Amino acid sequence: MILNRNDKCWCGSRLKYKNCHLDFDKKLEALKNQGCIVPTRNLIKSKEQIEGIRKSAKINNGLLDLVSENIKEGMTTEEINKLAHEYTISQGGIPATLNYDGFPKSICTSINDEVCHGIPSKDVVLKNGDIINVDATTILNGYYSDASRMFMIGEVTDKARKIVEITKECLNKAIESVKPWGFLGDIGAVIQEYAESNGYSVVRDFGGHGVGLNIHEEPFVSHFGIRGTDMILAPGMVFTIEPMINGGSHEIFIDEDNGWTAFTADGALSAQWEHTILVTEDGIEIISK
Ligand code: MF3
Ligand code: CO
Ligand code: CO
Repeated sequence: MILNRNDKCWCGSRLKYKNCHLDFDKKLEALKNQGCIVPTRNLIKSKEQIEGIRKSAKINNGLLDLVSENIKEGMTTEEINKLAHEYTISQGGIPATLNYDGFPKSICTSINDEVCHGIPSKDVVLKNGDIINVDATTILNGYYSDASRMFMIGEVTDKARKIVEITKECLNKAIESVKPWGFLGDIGAVIQEYAESNGYSVVRDFGGHGVGLNIHEEPFVSHFGIRGTDMILAPGMVFTIEPMINGGSHEIFIDEDNGWTAFTADGALSAQWEHTILVTEDGIEIISK
């Protein structure tokens, strides 16, 4: 269907097309004709949807703040899960990972050589020197937000602290690289360059993802890659960047017993930080902040 200039815009804003996404569509059409990969309309969030995702992220951040205030040596990962779960429910949210594809818990807790998707357990006790990623995804009124942070338990080695810090910088540099009408491939390029220049490797089997109306949407956000490639980043896109950086090789394996938890193949440490990002007209907004 061809929209007329005076018709209502396709984005749900109730504005006339000419006052809303007409110029946007022209720009994308031109880029597409130049051979660029452009996002489909279902990847462009409306103002209302963005506001819904922001509210969801507020709970998700509150959860991570609460974990940050309480996490300590001697605690089990199940206790962290309980804290997170109860907080989310108390705020009117739903933990998105609980029963997602059979995942049994409300957060992921990945310690040391666990790359991601660690399952909270009453048998896993946090020890002095551990580094742990806590990854939370919250649903509020049908809107999804996703973020994760690293925590250092007690006194950690310089080696452990360094991978945690460099991984956080990988995420920050990647966020800085995001430009409206820029390329998705720049994100992976920036992360890969910075990680590898520090002697680390980038996990390839998992990536970031579109998010907002579902836990995992398009596009797949690769954490390694080439500048000036992959999808055009248009205002209204919401996605995560969540680099998993390994101290040794990028190879991983999945726990055969639980079918979920990814470990570094060589037993080296792995770290991860995650934010949910919105591409705006003139830059970006870190929604999960
Ligand atoms: N929060 C995770 C992510 O960043 C989703 C994990 S799905 C689970 O994509 F089932 F493993 F929890
Ligand atoms: Co994610
Ligand atoms: Co996550």
